[in-house]
Amino acid sequence: MHKVLYIFKKMKDNSISVNYQKFWDEKYLNKENNWELNHPTQVFVDLLNSPFGLEKGKLLALGCGSGHDAILFAENGFEVTINDFSSQAISKAKKNAETKRIHIEFLQKDLFELGELFAEGFDYVLEYTTYCAINPARRTEYRDVVHKVLKNGGLFIALFFPLQNKAEHYPPFSVDVIETYNIFSENFKLKYFEKPKSSVKPRLNNEVLMIWEK
Ligand SMILES: C[S@@+](CC[C@H](N)C(=O)[O-])C[C@H]1O[C@@H](n2cnc3c(N)ncnc32)[C@H](O)[C@@H]1O
Repeated sequence: MHKVLYIFKKMKDNSISVNYQKFWDEKYLNKENNWELNHPTQVFVDLLNSPFGLEKGKLLALGCGSGHDAILFAENGFEVTINDFSSQAISKAKKNAETKRIHIEFLQKDLFELGELFAEGFDYVLEYTTYCAINPARRTEYRDVVHKVLKNGGLFIALFFPLQNKAEHYPPFSVDVIETYNIFSENFKLKYFEKPKSSVKPRLNNEVLMIWEK
């Protein structure tokens, strides 16, 4: 490949393409969904068993791919709605929920449309590797959606990854801790902060668990 073209390809950041369902459907169809753990993260397992003591409630999982983390919360008694705009992601999540015989609502929509549709509809919003998948220029817009769909006193449970992108492509777009604190502290209170020890090995020290209260 011509050197200039190669560098362009390598550096391509996709910050516009990520706004579209097609980009994500193709990732799944081409088996480029290399973010997939195929199991819930141990970080959420530990959180559910921790003294933090999350009470059961209505939980919205944003951009939740094949749904393993959302299914974990459903198995623990939460009333879960799975959101993703990729039809491929939703069908994988449906299959996984069926295998576990667990009831979940599915919402195939652009998450940026949810604020108007579900104002104050949820006790919890769950985030894992979606914030790093959206165009970084839309991060305050994302925060406003989370704020809108949560009830007063509701919690935003976010495992932010990656603090540094060690790969040579975007997404994932890096999530700077200070920048994230500044964005969310504008209209949320930080209730919990941890650099988890139980992150999956390749992500150890490269993700942070934050719980924010509306
Ligand atoms: C990197 S994947 C992460 C999936 C899942 N959270 C996980 O941890 O395996 C990002 C997911 O967000 C979805 N997504 C990206 N932008 C979205 C948007 N604007 N609305 C809804 N889903 C979106 C994609 O379709 C994809 O399934």
